Amino acid sequence: MADVPRKLLVEARKIPEKYITRPWGSCSVAAGPPELSEMLTSQFARSLIGLLEKGANVAMKKKKLLLVGLACAVAAAVGVSAARAQGEAAEEVGRLAELMGWKAGTVVADIGAGDGKYTFAAVERVGAAGRVYATEIDAKKLAELRDEVARRKLANVIVVESKEADTNLSAGCCDAIFLRHVYHHLTKPAEFDAGLVRSLKSGGRLAIIDFAPRAGLEPVEGVPSNRGGHGIPQKIVIEELSAAGLRLEKIVEDWPEDSYCVLFVKR
Ligand SMILES: C[S@@+](CC[C@H](N)C(=O)[O-])C[C@H]1O[C@@H](n2cnc3c(N)ncnc32)[C@H](O)[C@@H]1O
Repeated sequence: MADVPRKLLVEARKIPEKYITRPWGSCSVAAGPPELSEMLTSQFARSLIGLLEKGANVAMKKKKLLLVGLACAVAAAVGVSAARAQGEAAEEVGRLAELMGWKAGTVVADIGAGDGKYTFAAVERVGAAGRVYATEIDAKKLAELRDEVARRKLANVIVVESKEADTNLSAGCCDAIFLRHVYHHLTKPAEFDAGLVRSLKSGGRLAIIDFAPRAGLEPVEGVPSNRGGHGIPQKIVIEELSAAGLRLEKIVEDWPEDSYCVLFVKR
């Protein structure tokens, strides 16, 4: 007689506990009295299979539950980190708005908007009377930005395809322009800077949020060699934008994520 799990034997045919010799786990009924072998009919075998299947189903359900639980935990963690990132973006944009003097109705451009976190925080600041241009060079990010703007039904966020050497923004469109962690990615900074200056209204401000070259980051392809790695020394930002015709107004050293913020004004 094959070993069968003790619990199954008891449940399947109410085999008296006393015939089951081993205290735990599987047990043999062969050691029991002769009438016990009669109990192991095909019906018993079927019910045993049923119970085994039930056991397997329970195990599968447990596994599914565990997976669902795990998926929920991951989704919750992703949600929490997205909410935190959004909160941090709103804080950073709040600081930027103060520094640059945004009001309700201000027209702002977020150059190299990426996933749009800063654009959406900016549009909250400038309100329905204001406008935010969100530019990107990357086709996939552009499409995602457009989808997100449509999903949020934001009539005052305009997504613009940027080029390597041109913002593609119209002349004098903006009161304020910011580039967050984007300037060190520019492959044609002199031409791009001329476009930035052109797009600013007279008296308008430009903010460059960036960081000094960091160890451990891949070099950025195609940028001028004087950057010295992934990032850009503050001094080079100031030299290049001053050469483009802007006046340095302020330097903020203690920007989040180990960054600096350099503020310029168009005379
Ligand atoms: C490090 S990400 C920063 C994204 C966003 N500003 C943020 O802080 O989360 C740099 C972004 O700049 C974009 N970019 C690079 N060169 C650009 C250009 N010439 N014009 C517009 N966007 C550019 C990249 O596609 C990328 O999305």
